Amino acid sequence: MRDFKYFQPTDIRFGSGKIVEVGAAVAKYGKRCLLVTVPVEPIFEALFDKVKASLKSAGVEVAHFDGIIPNPTTECITAGAEAAKQHNADVVLGVGGGSSMDSAKAIAVEATHPGTSWDYLYFRDSQPTEKTLPVIAVSTTSGTGSQVTQVAVVTNTKERDKSAIYNAIVYPKVAIVDPDLMLTIPEHITASTGFDAFAHAFESLLNPNASPYTDMMALEAIELLVKHLPRVVQDGSDREGRAALAWADTLAGLCIANAGVTLPHGIGMAIPGMYPHVMHGEALALNYPAFTRFTCPHAISQFVAVGRIFNPELREESDQAAAERMCEEVDQFLKEIGMWFGLADFDIPQAEIPDLAEQSMVLPDNGNNPRVATQDEMQELLEQCYRR
Ligand SMILES: [Fe+2]
Repeated sequence: MRDFKYFQPTDIRFGSGKIVEVGAAVAKYGKRCLLVTVPVEPIFEALFDKVKASLKSAGVEVAHFDGIIPNPTTECITAGAEAAKQHNADVVLGVGGGSSMDSAKAIAVEATHPGTSWDYLYFRDSQPTEKTLPVIAVSTTSGTGSQVTQVAVVTNTKERDKSAIYNAIVYPKVAIVDPDLMLTIPEHITASTGFDAFAHAFESLLNPNASPYTDMMALEAIELLVKHLPRVVQDGSDREGRAALAWADTLAGLCIANAGVTLPHGIGMAIPGMYPHVMHGEALALNYPAFTRFTCPHAISQFVAVGRIFNPELREESDQAAAERMCEEVDQFLKEIGMWFGLADFDIPQAEIPDLAEQSMVLPDNGNNPRVATQDEMQELLEQCYRR
């Protein structure tokens, strides 16, 4: 048995209808709340009204900052931090997908520290302190796991860079995971966020920080995603399937908080950093076929375990054969959920692949892959992702 440590401070409230607990959960940490969401649109109105009513009945005064965009920028975080200061907020509530929850964390830092969120990235000398406002997270998609992680991803458009605050101080105090909130997620967002959760679970198995604890959760998450994601992409109203995906996403979030991701996430961050019209899940999907083949010979046991989840008949095959077949199973999975594409499908110029390769090496993710890519190998790998 390997030695390991495992830490998770978030109070998780999981289940259908749990959204009604949001007011009481926030009131435990403050009386003046900044609610952080994407712009109010008709499909979100009922949810936002319900959240505000719950806050009000718990005696919490709320200001609503609804300026969050996909791949939230440093400017977007600064506007949110200003809103927090103006309201004199003592707690931040992020309601939405990864963008809203990550922004809530970055706003909680910027509102209480000098400079901007970009000054507190994981590799900086200055790190967020205890002054950081407490964060409560309500997830409305099943993908980023942000409701249970210490990560807040921010995009700097001037630098064409996407990076992250990574500090235990931004773990949400409470995470509310209510699968009923996910019944109306459109098909492509379901697929893209669901594949992100798959990538979190699979890469955490490969990361050198993996433990028996995270392995157990990662394998369970993968089993749930393999069984339910294709079905829910077909029928978004499948309540049992939505609950399974929400649980898989939470498990995969717990995995990345304690083990971490590998090479695909280096690319999965670099692409939207340079080309913000590409979603994180799409950037992962387009590099997985090349990544699996690049990595497979260096992580046979993990590839075998996941291959046999996809296809139990691979129990009859040798480990080597089962591991290689796993790469084909992932291809098939991507096709089934409508996520089979390459860089060319997003109009990314082939001539920029060398720059993209350089950016994909910046985060520590590649360094945590069982086979660490050199810059030339990263470039070659991205060339393989150009056209499907
Ligand atoms: Fe991710």
